[in-house]
Amino acid sequence: MRSIAVLTSGGDAPGMNAAIRAVTRSALDLNMTVYGVRQGYQGLVHDQISPLSAREVGGIIQIGGTFLGSARNKEFREESARSKALRNLAQRGIEGLVVIGGNGSQTGAQLLGKLGFPVVGVASTIDNDLFGTDVTIGSDTAVNVTLEAIDHLRTTGSSHSRAFLVETMGRDCGYIAIMAGLAGGAEVISVPENEVPAREIAERLRAAYERGKTHAIVVIAEGVKENSAKIISWFESNKQMVGFELRTTVLGHVVRGAPPTAFDRVLATRLGVSAVKALSDGEFGVLVGWQKGVVTRTPLAEVAGRTKAITTELVELARMLAR
Ligand code: F6P
Repeated sequence: MRSIAVLTSGGDAPGMNAAIRAVTRSALDLNMTVYGVRQGYQGLVHDQISPLSAREVGGIIQIGGTFLGSARNKEFREESARSKALRNLAQRGIEGLVVIGGNGSQTGAQLLGKLGFPVVGVASTIDNDLFGTDVTIGSDTAVNVTLEAIDHLRTTGSSHSRAFLVETMGRDCGYIAIMAGLAGGAEVISVPENEVPAREIAERLRAAYERGKTHAIVVIAEGVKENSAKIISWFESNKQMVGFELRTTVLGHVVRGAPPTAFDRVLATRLGVSAVKALSDGEFGVLVGWQKGVVTRTPLAEVAGRTKAITTELVELARMLAR
């Protein structure tokens, strides 16, 4: 293979830049020409494709987001848009594509692969909900940003004897909330896979208050049905139950924009290099991920449209330790 392109798609994730750098430089090392596609699949359809040099991917390993830009592109679901994308790739002699992104992006990669084009996916989303990898690029940073917020809130919570409700991202997956909640010593963690009703949260906060705690942290994943707004409104009408005065912080996109941790940079580097290796080995239509300590290749057909189930045993662990 002499010429490949790389794109980032869906929600951006810390470490995407490190992955683009790894793809570009490892492909150049194999004497390939490398192209960068702007704004994900949108740029593929609308021909925003230009060559990438080693210098252009310099000084980006430590920066969050993606310098190529990203988009959630509905147009790519249409076969006509995918055919247009293939024509744009063909007219430059591009023979392979690396797609860095999460669920929707890998489904797009699978659709393109089904048309016969060599595509390899790189697992990247803060949500860590992608099938075919134990961990995705960006999720470690998102956990650490959430944890930092929890640590700060605990400090001010202690000064004022308050409880804090912290809502973090993750779409329908509780990974970020569970990991950050456990690491932050949260009293309660509520995730879509193991939702804690408002009444039970109130009971557990009350119990913590009566045990003499000076603060309490409740971590909520954005995907729960009873989200922080609903819990707060329930608490408003049942104030006497809680003991603590309560405040809420919704972290939202703050969780997504941080500089990548060392873990995410190294993971992105390994997966980016491995994606190019897969293309040069002639193994297409796979997601490059990280499972049980090694780089793995999982058929995109198995990955597309599927999410990974997370274990909730850590929620119970956090509960047992919050004494
Ligand atoms: O998939 C990453 C993610 O940040 C989710 O955690 C969140 O639900 C969603 O994207 C937000 O999407 P948008 O940036 O389009 O609002």
